[in-house]
Formats: sequence, structure tokens, C-alpha cells
Amino acid sequence: MADYKVGKLINEGKTKKIYNLLNDPTLCLLESKDRITAGDGAKSHDLEGKATISTSTTVKVFRLLNQAGVKTAYVKPAGPKCFIAKKCNMIPIEWVTRRQATGSFLKRHPGVPEGYRFNPPLQETFYKDDANHDPQWSDEQIITADFIMGGVKITKDEVDIMKRITLVVFEILERAWAVRNSALIDMKIEFGVDSDGEILVADIIDSDSWRLWPSGDKKLMKDKQVYRDLSNVTQQNLETVKRNFKWVEEQLDYIIEAPSPLVVIFMGSPSDKAFCQEIAKHATALGLKPQLRVCSAHKGTLETLNIVAEYEGSGENVVLIAVAGRSNGLGPVLSGNTVLPVINCPPLRSDNIERSIWSSLDVPSGLGCTTVIYPEAAAFAAAQIHAMHNHLVWAHLRVKQLDNFLSLKRGDSKLRKS
Ligand SMILES: Nc1ncnc2c1ncn2[C@@H]1O[C@H](COP(=O)(O)OP(=O)(O)OP(=O)(O)O)[C@@H](O)[C@H]1O
Ligand SMILES: [Mg+2]
Repeated sequence: MADYKVGKLINEGKTKKIYNLLNDPTLCLLESKDRITAGDGAKSHDLEGKATISTSTTVKVFRLLNQAGVKTAYVKPAGPKCFIAKKCNMIPIEWVTRRQATGSFLKRHPGVPEGYRFNPPLQETFYKDDANHDPQWSDEQIITADFIMGGVKITKDEVDIMKRITLVVFEILERAWAVRNSALIDMKIEFGVDSDGEILVADIIDSDSWRLWPSGDKKLMKDKQVYRDLSNVTQQNLETVKRNFKWVEEQLDYIIEAPSPLVVIFMGSPSDKAFCQEIAKHATALGLKPQLRVCSAHKGTLETLNIVAEYEGSGENVVLIAVAGRSNGLGPVLSGNTVLPVINCPPLRSDNIERSIWSSLDVPSGLGCTTVIYPEAAAFAAAQIHAMHNHLVWAHLRVKQLDNFLSLKRGDSKLRKS
């Protein structure tokens, strides 16, 4: 915190205080309180140590989201109870995503059994208004409210954008928690508009934001519902709530860090290096660790198989990409001699496409190598294989799809307004 000067308090809510930062008017400091509340503040208790656990939980969750490429207001931690964020004009809506029916959904939809699974996840929105117990709002109600936040008008486009980001955030965290065999049942997030007019996932994401059921078992719930359900709050059961929150905060350590999975790019000749580096660049952007190797299946068959044996013996999950021009012996030879997945990405020249492509496609029976012709496509194909076992790569792919959605949506919106 030495490099930041804390300015005046600009907002104080039930669980945190927001301060200006004198060095930078576009940022603020969020300080968490040792306070737990439920029922729009109707139930409220001091809980020593909660601020530290809550801050650390939020910091870990936002780091995971930022790393995957989701735009959030989170900047960096600033001591045990504080973090620095982009100062936002907050949009007064809670964006809720549900994978399973429970809680208030069951009351509003009698007859639906608890645990009913929503595929795709169900999305709901609530207007933040404690006095009226945060009423549920439709898209039309949000649009008609004519919110203007930080100079941004909240129209149907912005609502669509926030709903899509909300869904992706839920899916990323759901996948992440699955690594610890915990089911993310539902969650709520909030958005703000920063000084550049950018819509960001803001506020906090901690054990107050979701329902989390280890082993998918409601009886094992580790979120704030335990506190909401207490009819008689004692120091002892407050300690249980705090222990649960601490468990969540600690589990996140196993979730947010994972070694990047390996993709080995074999080139038939060093002259293909630039093409392979292009694949490597895209692979890195998707959370993979690329490694470049030179070997020729035609001229160095034994050596090629020895290199494959290195990766087979490593015990790691590895995807192979074969880059060989003219007659591609490399990909099919690799594919016929290893169970590791092989993707051909021949560096085709316009004058030889017709002839050369067939050596990658017309392979002998018993082989299952696939073929793509663009470096980016090779990286995506490898990432899709790794995403099946690696939630961080999965998150990168999901955010790439989100980015496609956002740029089309924004492009369309700009054209309509011009
Ligand atoms: N990045 C941010 N920039 C500016 N304000 C923020 C930011 N993140 C959160 N806030 C705001 O900080 C205030 C205090 O947060 P807190 O969660 O304690 O409020 P609250 O009492 O729960 O009220 P609310 O129901 O609005 O969340 C809220 O109004 C929240 O919207
Ligand atoms: Mg709040």
C-alpha cells in the first residue's frame, strides 16, 4: 500500500467501505468489514476475521477471471482486508445464474423440485433495492429504467452483453470448482462502468456470492446459506460459518494455479520455424505451453519415434502438432505410433495446396490424425483437447468465444447508431 495514498470515504455499505485513491482518480480501495449480514441486512453479526477471508477469496476469484481474459474491475490486493479496483459507477442490478433450482427460485416456481437442472443455466436479474427486498426485474424493466452509468446508456445491447458475461463467469467458476469436486449451484455478480466507459464485472465475488455444495451434496454446503439458515445465532455456529469460508478460500489455491498443459509442435524442417512460432503464439494465448521440435519422419524415423517416447514417458497430457510441407509423412507416422492426439497443420503454399494437402488427409486405415490449415486453428484444436481435463484452458476458450460475441454485438450496435 506504500505507493497509494488513501483519500476520503466515498461509499459505505453493509460489508465494505470504498475509498478514493489520491494518486489515481480512476481507482478506488475496497475495504472489507468483519461483518456478516443476510436478508437485506435484517440479520447482521460481527465476525472477526471475515474481512480477511472475504478479501482473499475475492482476490483469488478475480485473478482467475482476469487470467482467463474476463474484464473485471479488480486491479490488485492492498493488504489483508483491502484490494484496489477500477472505480466504477455501479449498475444497480444483481445478475444471477442458476445451474440447479434451490432457494428463492423454488418459492417463486412452486412444483419445481429442488435440484432441477437448468441446461443452459437459468439467468435472472434483480433490482438492488434493500427496502423492497431486491425485486426480480425482466430485461424489459432494466431497459425501460433508462439507466445511464458513467456516460453509458443501458440499452438492450448492454443487457445482452452483461447477461452473456454473467453466464461465462458462472461457467468458468463452475468448471473450476468441479476440480475440487464441488458443485456451483448458483451465483450472483454485479457490473460497473469504469472511467473509460467500459462495462466490467465489479464489486466482489466471495462465499456470499454463490451456493457451493461439495460432492454436489446440499448437506455439505460451504456458503453463506449456512448463516442464512441459522434461527439461533451463537458464537459457536458463527465459528462454523467462518471455518466454511476459510475452507473455500483455501480450496481456491488448488484451483487458480495449474501448470499449463504441453503442446509439442513438430516441424519437418527448421525452415518452418516462423510458421510454428505462429502456432506457438496462439497456443500461449490459450493457456498452453508450446514446445518446438525439429524432426523428419522420412529422413529420421527412429529419432522421431524416440522423441515421441520422451513425451509418452513424461506422464503428462500432451497434444502433438505436425508441421510438414510437401508430402506430410510426419503427422501420419506420429499418429500411427502413439496414442497421443496428433493434429496436422501443413504449411501449404498456394502453388502446391492441391497436391500436398492429400498427404495429410488421405491416411492409411487405423490412423485418426486430424488436419487444419491455419496456425490459429491448430492452436484451438489442441486447446479443445486439453480443455477436457484443464479448466484454465477451458476458460480461455470460453472467453475467446465471449470476445467474438462482444465484438459482433458492438460492431452491430455501432453501425445501427451511425
Ligand atoms: N469497483 C467499485 N467502484 C465503486 N463502487 C463499488 C465498486 N465495487 C463495489 N462498489 C460499491 O460499494 C458499495 C459498498 O458495498 P457493500 O457490498 O458493502 O454495499 P451493500 O450494503 O451490500 O449494498 P449493496 O446492496 O448495494 O451491495 C456498494 O454500493 C457497491 O456497489
Ligand atoms: Mg453488496
